[in-house]
Amino acid sequence: MMVDIVEYSNWGSIEVIVGPMYAGKTEELIRRVNRARIADLKVLVFKPTIDNRYASDKVTSHNGKQLECSVIESPQEILDCIAKEAFDVLAIDEVQFFGEEIIKICQEAAQQGKRVIVSGLDMDFRGEPFSVTPNLMAIGEYVTKLTAICKVCKMPATRTQRLVNGQPARYSDPIIMVGAKESYEARCRKCHEVIE
Ligand code: ADP
Ligand code: TMP
Ligand code: MG
Ligand code: ZN
Repeated sequence: MMVDIVEYSNWGSIEVIVGPMYAGKTEELIRRVNRARIADLKVLVFKPTIDNRYASDKVTSHNGKQLECSVIESPQEILDCIAKEAFDVLAIDEVQFFGEEIIKICQEAAQQGKRVIVSGLDMDFRGEPFSVTPNLMAIGEYVTKLTAICKVCKMPATRTQRLVNGQPARYSDPIIMVGAKESYEARCRKCHEVIE
C-alpha cells in the first residue's frame, strides 16, 4: 500500500484514514500501529470516551480487532500525556468526535517530527462533511479514503445510512449518535437516503 512509504521517513507527518462506517478505518489504524511497534517505535493511542460501543478501554473494530488505548474526555489529555512521555507515533481513532483543538495538537506533533495517524468519519449520516475530519484531510500529507460495501446494492459504499426503527433518519436529527449495526449501515451515493 502506497502510504506505507511514510514508515521510511523520519520527519513529521499527518496520515488521515477516512471513509464511512465499516470501511475498515479502525482496522487500518490498528495495522499501522502494529507495524510501527514492530519497527520499535513508541506509539501512543487515544480514542474519545464517547465511543463506548465495545470494550471501553480499547480501540475496537467491527470485526473484533482490538488495541489498548487511552480513553480521553478532551484533547487536553493528549497534550498532558505527550508532555510527559517520549513517543514517535501519535494515533487517534474516532477523531470526528473531537473539537477544533485536536487539529492544533496534530499539527504541533507533526511539526516536532512525530508521525500522526488519525482515523474518522469524513461524512455524517446526512452525507455532509463531519466535524474536524475534512480540515485534517486538507492539512494531512497522506489521506486514505476507504470504502465499505453498500448494504443495498453491494457496490462500494462511501456513505453511512442512519436508520431509526428501520427507516432513514431525518436531516434534522442530531449529528452525534453512537451506534453500530442496529442504527447504521454502509451505502453508496445512489442508495443513501435522508428524509428532509
Ligand atoms: P470502521 O472503523 O471504518 O467503521 P472497522 O475497521 O471497525 O471499520 O471494521 C471493518 C470490518 O467491518 C470489515 O473488515 C468487515 O469485517 C466488517 N463489515 C461489516 N459490514 C461491512 C460492510 N458493509 N462493508 C465492509 N465491511 C463490513
Ligand atoms: P466507526 O466509523 O468506527 O464505525 O464509528 C463511527 C461512530 O460514529 C459510531 O459510534 C456512530 C457514530 N456516528 C455519529 O455519531 N453520527 C453520524 O452521523 C454517523 C454516520 C456515525
Ligand atoms: Mg472505527
Ligand atoms: Zn448502493
